[in-house]
Amino acid sequence: LNYGVNRERGYILQVLFNGLRRLEYRGYDSAGISIDSVSDSSLCSSPLVFRQAGNIESLVKAVYQEVASTYINLEEAYSVHAGIAHTRWATHGEPAPRNSHPQSSGSGNDFLVVHNGVITNYEVLKQTLIRHGFNFESETDTEVIPKLAKFVFDQANEGDQTVTFSQVVLEVMRHLEGAYALIFKSRHYPNELIACKRGSPLLLGVKEYPGDGETPASFNDARFLSTNGDPKELYFSSDAHALVEHTKKVLVIEDGEVVHLKNGSVSILKFDDGKGTANGTNSRPAAVQRALSILQMEVEQINKGKYEHYMQKEIHEQPESLTTTMRGRLIHGGSSKAKTVLLGGLKDHLKTIRRSRRMVFIGCGTSYNAALAARPILEELSGIPVTLEIASDLLDRQGPIYREDTVAFVSQSGETADTLNALNYALENGALCVGITNTVGSAIARKTHCGVHINAGSEIGVASTKAYTSQIVAMTMLALAIGSDSISSEARRESIVDGLVDLPSKVREVLKLDNEMKDLAKLLIAEQSLLVFGRGYNYATALEGALKVKEVALMHSEGILAGEMKHGPLALVDENLPIFVIATHDSCFSKQQSVIQQLHARKGRLIVMCSKEDAASMMNVGKYVRVIKVPHVEDCLQPVINIVPLQLLAYHLTVLRGHNVDQPRNLAKSVTTE
Ligand code: G6P
Repeated sequence: LNYGVNRERGYILQVLFNGLRRLEYRGYDSAGISIDSVSDSSLCSSPLVFRQAGNIESLVKAVYQEVASTYINLEEAYSVHAGIAHTRWATHGEPAPRNSHPQSSGSGNDFLVVHNGVITNYEVLKQTLIRHGFNFESETDTEVIPKLAKFVFDQANEGDQTVTFSQVVLEVMRHLEGAYALIFKSRHYPNELIACKRGSPLLLGVKEYPGDGETPASFNDARFLSTNGDPKELYFSSDAHALVEHTKKVLVIEDGEVVHLKNGSVSILKFDDGKGTANGTNSRPAAVQRALSILQMEVEQINKGKYEHYMQKEIHEQPESLTTTMRGRLIHGGSSKAKTVLLGGLKDHLKTIRRSRRMVFIGCGTSYNAALAARPILEELSGIPVTLEIASDLLDRQGPIYREDTVAFVSQSGETADTLNALNYALENGALCVGITNTVGSAIARKTHCGVHINAGSEIGVASTKAYTSQIVAMTMLALAIGSDSISSEARRESIVDGLVDLPSKVREVLKLDNEMKDLAKLLIAEQSLLVFGRGYNYATALEGALKVKEVALMHSEGILAGEMKHGPLALVDENLPIFVIATHDSCFSKQQSVIQQLHARKGRLIVMCSKEDAASMMNVGKYVRVIKVPHVEDCLQPVINIVPLQLLAYHLTVLRGHNVDQPRNLAKSVTTE
């Protein structure tokens, strides 16, 4: 919402389109926008809506064509304007203009809504609204929301009652079940916007004039909620990436809150039932004061720089991202003789963690794989059993979680719905909950009792790369911190700390394999499938390497625990199928050598990754498609090194096969629906 700031022609459209471009990385299949058709704020204009399946640029093109031909006024400078825009990742209904957002209350666009999340009771609401004469145009769950708003508005006005925009939205919220972040725009309330949320992330960005760029005197800056009409621009966004070029001052909106922008002022109401939910008639909303935060993000971080793709940039910046993950946390050298770690977000909870009956690590996708990579060292240094859970599976089973458990939630975004639901479940069961995320202020970071930020910087490529290696390092530091009271493991811990200090330079070394992996990608370009064998510390590397190849190069790939080879996968081995075997030097090395022998005996087409020192002896075993030589590091850190060639392979395979590197088909960066 632009309030009282004189801006050049077309500014509102530019802001909305750029915001959508910043969100592209999260994955989407259609987009839409709504703006006003006249610039005079005293008129109740009918908002214009444009929606397109496909990419943002096709929406941009469509809007400008329409603007040029029909709505000349749109290019006027607005001094007050409220616009909304959205990228959609299809859940209910195929990607098509009618299913894109904003969804409308019907002709005239009395109410328009953009929505992230899923409304679980939409069928019941839809039937009720149909009985009241509403016609539905889309297959979305979202469409019930603007229609419900119109129903509430019309009912109130029939009784000659003047309702405010907030009253309408509050009433709508009472009826919604599921997860949502919503923004409402209405013909009846020109130049006002309302946002509310439950479960899905939402931020408010505040850019004030004059004096923008100043840090607020305190996080409870009184000016923020002032009702004076100071010129300002106010932005709602589900993601900080769309805000950072405008402002770093943000309010992290909480569940149950309704944020109303009107006349350049912000007012917040919250349902006060203890849970911030709107269910039931007893819960009454109350006005709340909230604190501003400052985004720790720079615009340069979210640009590609000299790279062609974000994924490429993120693979190559791992020496730096790992350094940031460890910064200020390793105690090494200097006056202190001890080599140890300091994790500020955990220090008050370490005793409780050490007393836990077991540790459970929960995540999805790459984050789960990172926990798998760190499990051996967590078990070794803590002496506590560690179990791993894929978030959705734990919830499907309603698996037991106890008060005596420490449960860690691993999530790059900190917003993944399955992981967040598992967190709520663990909180209900009384466990100590630890967050391991890359997003300060995310739902998982806020709801857990304590945690470790991995500080890898913004990750834009949908396929996670640098967050994976930083997650492993963060969990290794967690293992060191938990085990720091054990004298018997001191030498081991010290050599891991030494290994961590050297790790960024070793990653720099392994990145030099870039061309070699590109050559390998050329060889594999037309393959249908790739198997990746690993074990021990590198079982996770096999799963994660295969996931990378699958998700971006769109080639079938499967990570296989080498110990299970004889129990099924061996049947697939022939002289055609390429097989990548991870056989770097650790306690599993001799077993992996025998796996290689057995694969050779079946004429397998092998690509072997080994430690530099073992390369000569490896050549004696047999012929290979390729031998990939990597630096040898401490066993528990080897997965950080070993994944890099596989990331490079997946990247080059994708480019060579002509697929979209940063936004793979059908995938989203942050899956905020179940
Ligand atoms: C999606 C992404 C994956 C990611 C997973 C978990 O599936 O495409 O790259 O690993 O979500 O995301 P999180 O943010 O919780 O780590």
